[in-house]
Amino acid sequence: MESSKEQANKSLAEKYIVEDSAAKFTDVAGLEEQKGFLKENIIVPSLFSEMFKGISIFDPTFFIYGPPGVGKTFLAKAIVGESKTTCLQICPSDVFSKFVGDGEKIIKEVFAYAKEKAPSIIILDEIDYLFSDQDNTGSEPPRRIRTELLIQISSLKSENRVWVVGVGNIPWVMNEAISKRFGRKIYIPLPDFSRRKELIQKYLSPGSISLQPEELEALAVESQGYSCSDILIFVRDAMMEPIRELQKATHFKAVDTLPNGKCVYSVCDPSDQEAKVMSFAELEPEQLKMRSIGFKDIECYLKKTRPSVSQHDVERYENYAQLQREN
Ligand SMILES: Nc1ncnc2c1ncn2[C@@H]1O[C@H](COP(=O)(O)OP(=O)(O)O)[C@@H](O)[C@H]1O
Ligand SMILES: [Mg+2]
Repeated sequence: MESSKEQANKSLAEKYIVEDSAAKFTDVAGLEEQKGFLKENIIVPSLFSEMFKGISIFDPTFFIYGPPGVGKTFLAKAIVGESKTTCLQICPSDVFSKFVGDGEKIIKEVFAYAKEKAPSIIILDEIDYLFSDQDNTGSEPPRRIRTELLIQISSLKSENRVWVVGVGNIPWVMNEAISKRFGRKIYIPLPDFSRRKELIQKYLSPGSISLQPEELEALAVESQGYSCSDILIFVRDAMMEPIRELQKATHFKAVDTLPNGKCVYSVCDPSDQEAKVMSFAELEPEQLKMRSIGFKDIECYLKKTRPSVSQHDVERYENYAQLQREN
């Protein structure tokens, strides 16, 4: 934790430096093609940026887009984690909630700092909020902030060795001007079968449950159309099930004895011959044996969780991605 004095001594731009992220590309399930592309076009060139000095053939602007909850922000964190360069990040809340003029100043200084400390990477998460043509708030859109960002992004030349990564959920609400400024578009779709399998496995706490390969595959089949966040929700819910049961339980039975002579109990059916009327609150934590979850628990919560991205939206993303490939 920095002291307030250290904070105050920082330049404005330094406040937007992203401290080392622990995330690595290997933590990001699947997305091999996208990770390969980012490695080749951002990570490696920034590592060996001296070699690229004076070469003005590559476009340093990227836009990562796709439905909500598919891991775009997570991927941006992994870019930070993989890079060995200065990374800065500006979010809409950093520039919108400020006094008039402050937002532009932040943008200007962050870009100037990035150029000075090059090689560097600027992450602009949720950039679609900043550039949405559909302003529902009824307020005058902060045009000056948008204009400043456009000016700054346009001013970048590859020899500046500054890479800009925009991240957003809804690319089609961004106006043409900004959309065109991001030369390289990277689509992150809903997770496919193998990525869903990998995510389910990953989200189950290690050692908490071991699914048979065919059970894992069945869950991956049934979760088609679910985002990574949706998967995380149903797996976490399933893992909470034994705790919920414990809180509601009215009958327990002794299943083991501790070295100190106290009994270890687990939840049981009231009809069980050894059942005792108790509540979990009467027991010490080490006296509780929680049941482990199984395939059925996960499947049950999978069915209770609705996919958050509609089929209509999926088609819209696919069509947009197709158009980008054709352009
Ligand atoms: N490939 C992945 N591997 C592991 N976890 C992931 C992956 N993609 C997404 N997640 C998890 O899913 C959740 C949503 O991801 P996030 O990056 O916030 O989505 P987005 O920015 O696309 O809305 C986060 O909890 C993230 O850790
Ligand atoms: Mg995000």
